[in-house]
Amino acid sequence: MAVASTSLASQLSGPKSLSQSYSGLRRSCPKLDHSHSPRSLFQHLHSHLSLSSSRKASRAVVAMAGTGKFFVGGNWKCNGTKDSISKLVSDLNSAKLEPDVDVVVAPPFLYLDQVKSSLTDRIEISGQNSWVGKGGAFTGEISVEQLKDIGCKWVILGHSERRHVIGEDDQFIGKKAAYALNEGLGVIACIGEKLEEREAGKTFDICFQQLKAFADAVPSWENIVVAYEPVWAIGTGKVASPQQAQEVHVAVRDWLKKNVSAEVASKTRIIYGGSVNGGNSAELAKEEDIDGFLVGGASLKGPEFATIVNAVTSKKVAA
Ligand code: PGA
Repeated sequence: MAVASTSLASQLSGPKSLSQSYSGLRRSCPKLDHSHSPRSLFQHLHSHLSLSSSRKASRAVVAMAGTGKFFVGGNWKCNGTKDSISKLVSDLNSAKLEPDVDVVVAPPFLYLDQVKSSLTDRIEISGQNSWVGKGGAFTGEISVEQLKDIGCKWVILGHSERRHVIGEDDQFIGKKAAYALNEGLGVIACIGEKLEEREAGKTFDICFQQLKAFADAVPSWENIVVAYEPVWAIGTGKVASPQQAQEVHVAVRDWLKKNVSAEVASKTRIIYGGSVNGGNSAELAKEEDIDGFLVGGASLKGPEFATIVNAVTSKKVAA
């Protein structure tokens, strides 16, 4: 799906000044100015309140700008042994998880079969990577067909460790996403800036460029979850503040609205990753464009991962 190149990014001066630039999708409160007659003010208020209550009735949550279900992924990376994974699976099987959340874990390839055959069906399985095309003579690679064969529903693509440690570029990642989607896997599409890019005021340029590479390649956005993962926050213990994450999430949603469609902008889950843990997830989840999390280190501990999944409750209306 081709998209127009963005001129928005080039107009932006730096992350700090940007929250005001991305107000397009915010739910606006009616302004009590004197230009409204009492009747039009009433109509304005009524339509605003109906919108809020219909959202509430259909999804039982508030503080979500998008319409997608909360989504939490656990990226186990290159960690674990048969024994530690069996303990993690048993902790996950006994965890109490809120129903209103899609929950996915991405074990290392070697343990996918073990996890699939021992983990509750409540939690779906993801690959951490996949080959760019059909399997064959590609030593060391894992194909989309094999991931599906073992029971995976998802694959993580564009993770910063694949981009910056292994050296995958935007176009290669876009092709991988297109292949996986065409074969019926969901894609957790990761984007995010490095520290020096943030400091140079290029956060949005980088995120939009990475998004555009996905958008240019993929057949549809139906099965994509976007994970915003600032590289400086991954595995460092330096989580983005809720406001820092929110301003990028709303910018991503706005980019999707302008460059793909309003429907895709509203339906696509935009999840945050980078040092999410049981202690910070509830505050992050309160931001209305944060539709879930991609969790690394803290997903290796079953009870803590469950706490992060259950952070969805901080979006719910107090009874
Ligand atoms: P982290 O990793 O939670 O350990 O920072 C997140 C990720 O890389 O997906």
